[in-house]
Amino acid sequence: ATNTAKAGKTRNIVQKMEESGKNCIIFYGSQTGTAEDYASRLAKEGKSRFGLETMVADLEDYDFDNLDAIPSDKIVMFVLATYGEGEPTDNAVEFYEFITGEDVSFSQGNDPPLDNLHYVAFGLGNNTYEHYNSMVRNVNKALEKLGAHRIGEAGEGDDGAGTMEEDFLAWKDPMWAALAAKMGLEEREAVYEPIFSVVEREDLTKDSPEVYLGEPNKMHLEGAAKGPFNAHNPYIAPIAESHELFSAKDRNCLHMEIDVSGSNLTYQTGDHVAVWPTNPGEEVDRFLNVFGLGSKRDTVVTVKPLEPTAKVPFPTPTTYDAIVRYHMEICAPVSRQFVATLAPFAPDNETKAEMTKLGGDKDYFHEKVNAHHLNIARLLESVSKGKTWNVPFSALIEGVTKLQPRYYSISSSSLVQPKKISITAVVETQILPGREDPFRGVATNYLLALKEKQNGDPNPTPFGLSYEITGPRNKYDGIHVPVHVRHSNFKLPSDPSKPVIMVGPGTGVAPFRGFVQERAKLAENGENVGKTILFFGCRRRNEDFLYEKEWEEYKKILGDKFELVVAFSREGPKKVYVQHLLKERAKEINELLEQKAFFYVCGDAANMAREVNAVLGQIISEQRGVPETKAEEIVKNMRAANQYQEDVWS
Ligand code: FAD
Ligand code: 2AM
Repeated sequence: ATNTAKAGKTRNIVQKMEESGKNCIIFYGSQTGTAEDYASRLAKEGKSRFGLETMVADLEDYDFDNLDAIPSDKIVMFVLATYGEGEPTDNAVEFYEFITGEDVSFSQGNDPPLDNLHYVAFGLGNNTYEHYNSMVRNVNKALEKLGAHRIGEAGEGDDGAGTMEEDFLAWKDPMWAALAAKMGLEEREAVYEPIFSVVEREDLTKDSPEVYLGEPNKMHLEGAAKGPFNAHNPYIAPIAESHELFSAKDRNCLHMEIDVSGSNLTYQTGDHVAVWPTNPGEEVDRFLNVFGLGSKRDTVVTVKPLEPTAKVPFPTPTTYDAIVRYHMEICAPVSRQFVATLAPFAPDNETKAEMTKLGGDKDYFHEKVNAHHLNIARLLESVSKGKTWNVPFSALIEGVTKLQPRYYSISSSSLVQPKKISITAVVETQILPGREDPFRGVATNYLLALKEKQNGDPNPTPFGLSYEITGPRNKYDGIHVPVHVRHSNFKLPSDPSKPVIMVGPGTGVAPFRGFVQERAKLAENGENVGKTILFFGCRRRNEDFLYEKEWEEYKKILGDKFELVVAFSREGPKKVYVQHLLKERAKEINELLEQKAFFYVCGDAANMAREVNAVLGQIISEQRGVPETKAEEIVKNMRAANQYQEDVWS
């Protein structure tokens, strides 16, 4: 309850519901946009199927000490993602601390405190992480303990198994049935009611100064992009330098130096930088064309919410082109629910029947859509055989996820270069069975295009993809990228004499370049730096050995204190991975751990990080002569004490 309300906005949820005539609020805790997306889908469905007066709310925008004053005929839904090591998402930290706090207290003094509250809960998690769906589990437990009444089951979606979408769809139908029974709601024929009005402006052109062409907000539009720079306001940073790290010609890995000296942005070694990407021109064209907007791409539109609690997810007036290029996740796999939503707008009956079938039949959808890795425009093109779709633009704003920033583990040390952020990013290119052209990751191919332009390629179109390089209105001379910094808990020991063991194959080495850089600098400054071992893995020495030459420089400074151990997975007859080499060094690893060495793992969450975790247990068990279960407990305790830290992604 400590936050001050933003100007003119209440942080009082009861008041907000009353003022806006809502009887169902859907709170989301979201990091990458999926939970937010699910929350708005629930809101739409509640409204169209049951006539509920729904509103979606960011947990960060409200206080919670009056949850006990929400009338019992209202419904509160929680859609909560778990982030990283069982942490709440950034926007849910305060709520989580409040609701799970020891001395939580509410305004009314009811007994039990939340006897009035009827709630629904769904969690988004990833079973490859240690604390699977801990957010929704802990919040659910806390709410039950406070006497709140849950409707339906607390659902859990699993990104690790790749079933998030289907888990959500399977959970929500029985939930709606339970909710309808509880609240006495009648289901009605679903009718589409737009949430936004989209008005084409004949009085404005794309050159009018008040029209947003991709500027993130007003400050940027007016050219005075003041801080603070954060997840709502990126800094458009010059790229000081960029180059290729791989020797192999068929894959790319980028090293970039992002210059934040013109901003008040700061970072600490081990933090993450978020990159705000731009969609490739080809997919923007495809999307606009399938909806018949190709010739209207530069038409200026003003978008306004038709109801008071809806937020337009980008600044307006703007153009169709700018909305699609800078604000919509148009390359991602299309969701089955969205396909069902679009069926009524099909250009002919045959297409409509096919869309209805795709939307309703999980297996059919899997075979026809998932297996071909189709995004929305590719699917619609193919189902309607090239006919254009006349869909209210509001339905697209509501149904297509907001384009999300991508995170990168900063690969420099803030001690060495406080105002320059390095990233190490492998370019996503996947030959996917069932899809004709390779899938190209949005952010990494955008960065690749920036690099090619910067290094003077006269025609910077990697693989034929074309990007807006110079940003809206060609405002930036030189190469720029919008970024913000996210602080992490992945940190070197404050005492540099403590030994560290780092395990980071592939781009998992990113933060460890920063760590080693920092330890070398500390040694140069005369500090006593402890043993620093890095386990790195790549395919072959002459293909993808990241920073091969640089390690030698750090070695010159750190001497015996630094050791690089490399697993080349494809040089010999058998795969050699970092965990195999860890095992070969079991005795030494165990000794270092007994000297309270910090142990770090970065990179692939799905396989590598788990296998390393298991191998560490085996090492401890063998070396200390304790049963495996005991060794696993030791590893768990190391994690709890921050002696074992992970920075992993899938
Ligand atoms: P995207 O477009 O986001 O695609 C990513 C994947 O999604 C694809 O490979 C594919 O599997 C799937 N996908 C997308 N669209 C479709 C479709 N239509 N059909 C089927 N599948 C699809 N990466 C690094 O290289 N270096 C780092 O240091 C690094 N640090 C990270 C730190 C954190 C905390 C996190 C969370 C991630 C980190 N990543 C890092 C990963 C990075 O954030 C990006 O996920 C990665 O670069 C890919 O982004 P992209 O936009 O190029 O690909
Ligand atoms: P591979 O591709 O030859 O299987 C960086 O991607 C390095 O990590 C590569 O050498 C890759 O080997 C290796 N790698 C792949 N799967 C791994 C796993 N489960 N554990 C550790 N390393 C792995």
